[in-house]
Amino acid sequence: MPFKRKDLLGLRDLAADEIEHILETAFSLKEINTRSIKKVPTLRGKTIVHLFYEPSTRTRTSFDIAAKRLSADTYSITGSTSSMVKGETFLDTLKNLEAMHPDIFIIRHSASGAPHRLATRTPVSIVNAGDGMHEHPSQALLDMMTIIEKKGRLDGLTVLIVGDIAHSRVARSNLLGLKKMGAHVVACAPPTLMPVDLDLMGAEVCSKVDDAIPHADVIMVLRLQKERQQQMLLPSMREYSVCYGINRSRLERARRDAIIMHPGPINRGVEISPDVADGPQSVILDQVSNGVAVRMAVLYLLGQRDASRALAQREESA
Ligand code: CP
Repeated sequence: MPFKRKDLLGLRDLAADEIEHILETAFSLKEINTRSIKKVPTLRGKTIVHLFYEPSTRTRTSFDIAAKRLSADTYSITGSTSSMVKGETFLDTLKNLEAMHPDIFIIRHSASGAPHRLATRTPVSIVNAGDGMHEHPSQALLDMMTIIEKKGRLDGLTVLIVGDIAHSRVARSNLLGLKKMGAHVVACAPPTLMPVDLDLMGAEVCSKVDDAIPHADVIMVLRLQKERQQQMLLPSMREYSVCYGINRSRLERARRDAIIMHPGPINRGVEISPDVADGPQSVILDQVSNGVAVRMAVLYLLGQRDASRALAQREESA
């Protein structure tokens, strides 16, 4: 089945069969990562540019590894190394890079909606690698892949998402994706960190984590964004940890086969205790491994499109 999209901007845009197609592709490509020669020629001759205007360890590295394992050429620009520090706009930066005929831009930006806006201004494919508090589609896809790998399905599972849901693009993309794939999503957060429209997105809202834990097949813990402390949204980190932190005694209430997930980076001892993060129910590093496979799938599917032809067509019609 061909993937008909120009961009991957969010899971809000994707239908269940498109999500399924990306995940099936990821499962089939995963094996390449365990070969002694981890490289296939699939995207040979394609050019991928990373534009990361926010810090990243996992997303940036795994997109770069994924691209290189598919034999694409990659180039990287960060906020501090681009001419945006000299006053160039993001759109001008993109237009100048576009003139070098790349095939895919991978963009992380602190402004919600930035990749969506740019996607309408360029024929080059855009992958959203996290935009503000909005979406992080490749993270949700790798999370779904990990759940399927561990649980065999998504349909009918109960996924508990605990933490700073209001400011989390990971929570938003997971919620949208998991609901489309038939999972039951329970969201648990202090009232100041819970978005008001969550029930409209189809999540069950729960304020007491201890009530939700026994019913969960998957417990997805979110990073407590320490910067929220300055906004007075929490009385203290310690109180958050006591009321919402996933620790050994809290996990005793969970099913024995419940899995613990976290997108990273982790605040050990705040939203998750070290023994739980490193314990037998944790699949956190499996998520990281699957991140490479999912990003290979995304680049492979978007890379089938001929961006150079789209650019040439646009130049002809101008
Ligand atoms: N989960 C995630 O997006 O991690 P990074 O910020 O390190 O990319």
